[in-house]
Amino acid sequence: MYIWTIEWTIKNSMSKNIIWHQTTLTRQKRSIQNKHKSVLLWFTGLSSSGKSTIAHAVEKKLFQINCQTVVLDGDNIRHGLCVDLDFSIPDREENIRRIGETAKLFVDAGIITLTALISPISSDRNKVRHLFTPGDFIEIYCRCTIVTCEQRDTKGLYQRAKTGEIKEFTGISSPYEEPENPELILDTDKISVDQCVQKIILLLQQQNIIQTD
Ligand code: ADX
Repeated sequence: MYIWTIEWTIKNSMSKNIIWHQTTLTRQKRSIQNKHKSVLLWFTGLSSSGKSTIAHAVEKKLFQINCQTVVLDGDNIRHGLCVDLDFSIPDREENIRRIGETAKLFVDAGIITLTALISPISSDRNKVRHLFTPGDFIEIYCRCTIVTCEQRDTKGLYQRAKTGEIKEFTGISSPYEEPENPELILDTDKISVDQCVQKIILLLQQQNIIQTD
């Protein structure tokens, strides 16, 4: 399913007739107007590890202090942009590539971008990291034991995966590779959502992405 996209990308990137259009509205100008910088917060972790909950809670907090934000949530994007992709390893790779490229457009537009995707394979995440200049890609590992994720089973999917009804389910019948060197680890089975949000806001302040109070 994803192959046409790769072929299309290769065909076009090899074209000599496409020239990048430079915008005069630079990220720097946007950041002066917005009063904050833009960055990508890439949440990774098992299903039910808290990625979406924390990403949306961070977004709410940033919205309250007048930041420009967007959340790209894996479940939601699979209803549209990535509706043609399944959960095979190659389709997950394409899912992550598309969302990484989309995130780059948003970051270039001065928007603090939060992605909530399992993104189980390290090399897929690292390819997205390399789309960005150092410091612009912040990998946040929502670390949570599979036992706790199974107990939470917020969508009832672990139960269905264990009976074999859902194939290639991350943590059950498909791998999850832990990040080796993420910018932040949140032990979501030990600390609250509010504590996770505080840690992320603090990191954004320390990196001068947003202003301190
Ligand atoms: S990713 O692996 O390609 O990054 P993504 O984050 O977009 O996955 O989608 C994961 C979500 O899809 C899960 O939170 C879950 O709700 C749902 N889902 C359905 N089938 C699967 C599956 N086989 N493995 C993992 N998640 C699945």
